[in-house]
Amino acid sequence: MQARFHAPTSANLRRLARALRNGALVAIPTETVYGLAAHALDAQACRAIFRAKRRPANDPLIVHVLDRAQAEPLAEFNDTARRLARRFWPGPLTLVLPKKPVVPGIVTSGGPTVAIRAPAHPLARRLLRLAKIPLAAPSANLFGYISPTTAAHVRDGLGARIPHILDGGACTVGVESTVLDVTDPRRPRILRPGAVTARQLELFLGMRVRQARSRGSNTPKLSPGLLERHYSPRTPLVLRRWSGQLPAGVAGVLQRRPAGHPWKHLFWLSRRGALNEVARNLYDVLRQADAGRYREIRVEPLPAADSGGLAAAINDRLQRAAARH
Ligand code: TXA
Ligand code: MG
Repeated sequence: MQARFHAPTSANLRRLARALRNGALVAIPTETVYGLAAHALDAQACRAIFRAKRRPANDPLIVHVLDRAQAEPLAEFNDTARRLARRFWPGPLTLVLPKKPVVPGIVTSGGPTVAIRAPAHPLARRLLRLAKIPLAAPSANLFGYISPTTAAHVRDGLGARIPHILDGGACTVGVESTVLDVTDPRRPRILRPGAVTARQLELFLGMRVRQARSRGSNTPKLSPGLLERHYSPRTPLVLRRWSGQLPAGVAGVLQRRPAGHPWKHLFWLSRRGALNEVARNLYDVLRQADAGRYREIRVEPLPAADSGGLAAAINDRLQRAAARH
């Protein structure tokens, strides 16, 4: 199999919507990262996602919907979840809620909850509207590798394993959605920090939003996405402050463009340090550095101070990418 690239024409979108209804896999752009989509109510189609990604069956999928009306038949909403959906959908906030029976067990890894979000990307929304089915979609990468933010990234990992890639250009947000457990409406809990920040959630809800700790050995498995080593390049990645020197064979990744002459083995994530730009460029730059046959990628971490903002999501991904077995 060799994946076909589809330009986002109306005819192609109709064709891909039909393919999805018939159980095919289609990689689609979202505002966060590309997703590998399948008919969420078709257990066999969803099984194919796990095979294509080599994803373990105990790591549940996110279900993508157009809006809350399409989500309500899939999950038991409570007031907190409804308020959040009204405020943050469409957008990069995934809500974990008790599932309804129609959702196949393969989607939730046999668990009692389902993760749902309404993506904001116009092409994802047009496809959802045409297909008229919810779409299960994890990030469109091989399990454990860096998430894809362009159609070419998807092809690099999955090109020989899936039939269709919808080319929507580069993703604008660049890090994955925030996964928020709202099964208890009075105690919302972030399972994965993401593009919607803890600070935004707390301000809006007027209550404390806890963060599930991902590090530390005796943390219960709240969400398999909390696996320590994840989002990782093949080249060993270390987090270290920029010292102004690069040993031979080492690539450097800075948060902002250095003054003066660009260096040969030095990459940067933004021009002036703007966090949304860092997030948008992060996975592409890590993939570029990983392709450079270095023995090590040395990444400058963000200051830890901004723990309630977008920096938390970026540092979370960097720490996972740096975690060794
Ligand atoms: O931005 C995103 O969320 C992207 C785009 C494609 O929407 N998707 C994404 O999917 O990042 P994935 O599968 O790579 O990550 C989904 C995360 C995983 O950490 C998974 O364990 C968690 O969500 N998850 C899914 N269902 C869950 C559930 N019922 N309870 C707890 N965590 C869940
Ligand atoms: Mg993923």
